[in-house]
Amino acid sequence: MKLQQKSSGESSGSVNEHTSSGNLKPFITSEEIQARIKVLAAQISRDYAGKIPVFIGVLNGSFIFISDLVREVSVDVEIDFLKLSSYGDSKISSGEVKLLKDLNCQIDGRDIIIVEDIVDSGLSIKYIRDLVLSHNPSSLEFCTLLMKKGLSNLSFDIKYTGFEIENKFVVGYGLDYAQKYRNLKEICILES
Ligand code: IMP
Ligand code: MG
Repeated sequence: MKLQQKSSGESSGSVNEHTSSGNLKPFITSEEIQARIKVLAAQISRDYAGKIPVFIGVLNGSFIFISDLVREVSVDVEIDFLKLSSYGDSKISSGEVKLLKDLNCQIDGRDIIIVEDIVDSGLSIKYIRDLVLSHNPSSLEFCTLLMKKGLSNLSFDIKYTGFEIENKFVVGYGLDYAQKYRNLKEICILES
């Protein structure tokens, strides 16, 4: 099959068309995200040399991040997913975390890396930590693309963080508002 070539006037595709519409303010470009992922993946590859870590993505928000991340990691990996209750159609956490999909793999004795899209209040990640630790993994670390500054009062470290951001509601690159905007290539601030 012959692939069609782009005409010279077409954009490189790093910005989705709907980004320029309405209340979306471009925040972190696709190029910045990919560059940061390469750095995180190199760090993870060094830290897990000779091991086969299990990456556990937290659905739905982390699906794009985890798929780009694992493709930059040079050690063998296994992948599984957890699904937690979401914010629903709200911008504010309900304060209650529910497990909607449990793990499918055995994680006792394994090296686990939890992959999140964003840590906001920290409630979800605390819930996941307790859940995973109850299965006796050999080690447990967290990797989040975004971390809202100063909001979560975590008693443990997040070893791999993509970007620390101010307390704004962001969408794109997997993150949604009422299930919309996950397919933006970049991250935008959703202004109200
Ligand atoms: P936490 O439990 O408050 O830390 O929230 C974690 C989850 O809430 C994330 O995994 C996201 O799914 C969602 N979330 C938090 N902040 C945002 C945001 O700014 N945009 C989109 N989703 C968010
Ligand atoms: Mg999430």
